Amino acid sequence: MFNRRYGRREFLRGSLALGTTAAGMAALAACGAPGGTSGSGSSGGGGNRLEIFSWWTSPGEVEALDALYKVYKASNAKVEIINAAISGGAGAGGNAKAALKTRLLGNDPPDSFQVHLGRELIDTHVVANRMEPLDDIFKSEGWDKVFPKQLIDIASKDGKLWSVPVNIHRSNVLWFNKKVLADNGVNPPNTFDEFFAAADKLKAKGVAALAVGEAAPGHVSHIFETVLMGVLSPDEYRGLWTGKFAWADQKVTASLNNLKRMLDYANTDYPSVASGDTLDLVIKGTAAMVINGDWNNGGFKSKKFADYGYVPTPGSKGRYGVLSDSFGLPKGIKDKDATLAWLKVCGSKAGQDAFNPLKGSIPARNDADKSVYDTYQQAAIADFQKDELLPSVNHGAAAKESWMTDMVNTMNTFSGKKDVAATQAELVKIAKDAGVG
Ligand code: GAL
Repeated sequence: MFNRRYGRREFLRGSLALGTTAAGMAALAACGAPGGTSGSGSSGGGGNRLEIFSWWTSPGEVEALDALYKVYKASNAKVEIINAAISGGAGAGGNAKAALKTRLLGNDPPDSFQVHLGRELIDTHVVANRMEPLDDIFKSEGWDKVFPKQLIDIASKDGKLWSVPVNIHRSNVLWFNKKVLADNGVNPPNTFDEFFAAADKLKAKGVAALAVGEAAPGHVSHIFETVLMGVLSPDEYRGLWTGKFAWADQKVTASLNNLKRMLDYANTDYPSVASGDTLDLVIKGTAAMVINGDWNNGGFKSKKFADYGYVPTPGSKGRYGVLSDSFGLPKGIKDKDATLAWLKVCGSKAGQDAFNPLKGSIPARNDADKSVYDTYQQAAIADFQKDELLPSVNHGAAAKESWMTDMVNTMNTFSGKKDVAATQAELVKIAKDAGVG
């Protein structure tokens, strides 16, 4: 199963680097129909309601969540779903996570909540004893056979399973308006040199090469993670999160210099543009390209814009920036049976094949019905099998949440001051504070 150049222990220590192989994916098992309430352990709550918390309020995400609700309703018709989705603010759910924490600390948990599989869930919520283990449901649904082994490992702590992955998102994608590139005689760039050459051409025509939205911290930090994936080797990138590769290295300096230069080609108002609005800049053609995860695939489709293309971000061909959205079972909820039924839907083939085609992501299960996925997703499913898998820091996979938050804020400062040396010194310090490096 582990045909990567890195070992299993290293892989698990600091990351959500999901090294599944085609061979490993061969062990498929039929999963039972989703839904239906579980007979096990009710907390004695209402049973007829289900409150689901997420930050899926953007185009594509709303429809995808709704599709999941529909699958749930098909076999849980009597349960009223309360959609407690609130806007994430910047990418990666900053506002929503803060609101969630307040509710959990106030003993008012939603029945289930969106959380990134891996460090975000384990280090934030499991260690604080806020979650129920999910081993029974993984067993009853046969999920050990349909989720890649590494996903199961990542969802585990102390031999127990803590959340159900509903998808795999790719973080390192450069999306572009095909017509704008073609009209300006520009090919989709694969390297940083190609990117800057393309950017010069576009700038000469008054087109922003890159749409950036940093009105709230998050997007610049996301772009930076993809620049690191494109400049460092896969092992060096992974080593940033385990202490094996130094944040003081000149390759990090080179990454910051690349990012600084990229920002020169961004829409000049990026400090006041919301990251979610960057899609519209590309659709309108005032910007040619945008770097973001493949929720943009869902976003473009939702906005009925078809003339978009995609390539891995500069330098990162053959590398897959990985994150996974998942749902868990908080302690002390009122609607446990309804929630167990929800978790079954999240992990089911029917649920994943309804949700992901709209969300833009690929299913976490290895037995998807490929015919319901678009061309981008079919290519992503294939890439996921063969690429180097690199955990996204911006989306909770590579490092604990406090480290991620510090990085996001540091890169927000960078987006204004563009001070490479000060930023690198800060990144070194943040890693030390996180106990690494
Ligand atoms: C990610 C999340 C995605 C999407 C994205 C939006 O953290 O995993 O599902 O919501 O944020 O920025």
